This record gives sequence, structure tokens and C-alpha cells, in this order.
Amino acid sequence: GVAVISASPADPLLVVLFFAVALLLGLIVTLPIGGADMPVVISLFNAFTGLAVGFEGYMQDNPTLIIAGIVVGASGTLLTQLMAKAMNRPISNILFSPITGNGSGGQAIEGSMKEVNALDAAAIMRYASKVIIVPGYGMAVAHAQHKVWEMTALLEEAGVDVRFAIHPVAGRMPGHMNVLLAEAGVPYEKIYDLEEINGDFPQCDVALIIGANDVVNPSERTDKSSPIYGMPILDADLAHNVIVIKRGKGTGYSGVENALFYTDNCRMLYGDAQPMAGEIIQYL
Ligand code: TAP
Repeated sequence: GVAVISASPADPLLVVLFFAVALLLGLIVTLPIGGADMPVVISLFNAFTGLAVGFEGYMQDNPTLIIAGIVVGASGTLLTQLMAKAMNRPISNILFSPITGNGSGGQAIEGSMKEVNALDAAAIMRYASKVIIVPGYGMAVAHAQHKVWEMTALLEEAGVDVRFAIHPVAGRMPGHMNVLLAEAGVPYEKIYDLEEINGDFPQCDVALIIGANDVVNPSERTDKSSPIYGMPILDADLAHNVIVIKRGKGTGYSGVENALFYTDNCRMLYGDAQPMAGEIIQYL
């Protein structure tokens, strides 16, 4: 960089070499980062693009570029910090983590997944008094939020107390679930953040997990070999009954197997979230 700047006029070969080395450095720094840490790194790089634009504005004496760059850089930095905090990891630890391969890892899990059908799932929830719904990325993919709200309204008509628990990194962007639920018409007072609702899971009859995985993985509390160890989770495993809607045995974003799905109080309702919510509505 210094050689490029001090040579006047700049040597085109040096400029190309500079960008090649920068690209290589980017790859070396980024490739070892995997699993759930990826969004944090993407957000950090977004912040850097803002800072680069800001510097460019400074060099060109262009206040518009400076302001735009600072806004992008500052918001990106804040977002990165928020995401790292939600995952309970310092940014340095994310950036300089050891190579974790494809993100797999964690202790082997014993037991089997137990299936439930939509009729039984509807019945369990209809006769419950407290239900907490945990939406995740799968609900977003399936565009199931409208059906989920329809189902909630039916349960509430039957006297069931239904609330939504939102993990700060559920889905693929901050606030993803809040936006989808708001779009479907779910009132804000029914939507609770992790800290607000976590204490209520032990008194809840049913935790209905819709297309969520990493945000309810209990091994994040105890399994030090897991790549997502230490991330705070929604304590859905402490509910009396857990029903999980997902298409199959696929892992979450981090690629880690979920111990919750193998516990005695957990039942799997296999299928795409939208038709499954539709079936539950029919039975309700
Ligand atoms: P994930 O861990 O990604 O799990 C989503 C689950 O949904 C999968 O296990 C998948 O299982 C199921 N699924 C996919 N499509 C479905 C469909 N059409 N119907 C029903 N189920 C479906 O989701 P999460 O629990 O929300 O966790 C979010 C993850 O993304 C975290 O690891 C987080 O770090 C990461 N992340 C977050 C952000 C932010 S800021 N929110 C940004 C980027 C990444 P099947 O394949 O078996 O169906």
C-alpha cells in the first residue's frame, strides 16, 4: 500500500498486486469462520465498506461520501456488536477462532426423535392453558406467519394463553421474526424477547417450535465442544411438552445436531411449516 501511494504515477502492476494480496488476506481471515459466526463477520465487513467509503470521501473532500460512509460504518459496527453480544461471544473470539471445518461438532446424542401427527399436536395445544410459540428461520422460509397467527387466534378463542418468544438471532437478520409476525398482524404485546420470557418456559404446557433449531439447542449451555457453546438460548426444553415443526432431520444454520429433539418431552411434527400450521387449524 505504501509503495503504491509513494510511487508517482502509481505502478499498475503494484496496484494489481495490492488488490491480489488484499483478496488473499480477506480469504485467509474469513475461511476459518463458519457456522453461526458467519452473519457477524458479514455484518463486520459491511461496516468496513462504510468506513472505506468514508475514507474515500475524506480523500476526495466529498462530505456526502463522508457522511454516508460514517452512517453505514457506525450502524454496521453497532449491529456487529449486538449480534456478537446476542451470541455471547467477543468479536475477537469470532474473528480469530480456530478452523472448525463445516461447522459440525458437539457431543454425540443418544436416543431417538419421536413423531407426532397434526391431530395430536392440535389436541395437546387445545387442552393446554399456556403455549409459547418459538418461530425460527423455517417459518420465514415457509411464509407460515399468517397461518401461525390464525392458529393462535383459534387457540385464544378456546381460552389458551399464547405468546411468542423471539431469540435475538432467530431467522437470518436482526428483527427478522418481529417483522414477519408484525406483518401477519400479531400484536406487539404478545411478542417477548429472550430475557423477558425465558423464566416462563417451566410453567408452560407446550412450547411450539416452528422452523427454529439453533436458538433452542440446549447443548449450547453445557457442551464445550459445540461450535455454538455459550450462545444464550430460549429454554423451550424446560416446557412440559415440546412440539417441533420442521421438514425432516436437517440441522440448523450452525450444522450442529439438536439435543432437544431427542428428549422425552419432545415430539416432532414433520412437514413444511405452512401446510402443517394449516392442518393444525383444521383440527382445532
Ligand atoms: P436454524 O438454526 O437455521 O434452523 C432452521 C430450521 O428450520 C432447520 O433445522 C430446518 O430443518 C427448518 N426448516 C427449514 N425450512 C423449513 C420449512 N419450510 N418448514 C419447516 N421447517 C423448516 O434457525 P434458527 O433457530 O432461527 O436460528 C438462526 C440461525 O441463523 C442461528 O444459528 C443464527 O446464528 C444464524 N443467523 C442469524 C442471523 C440473525 S442476525 N438473525 C443472521 C444470519 C444467521 P429441516 O431442514 O429439517 O426442515
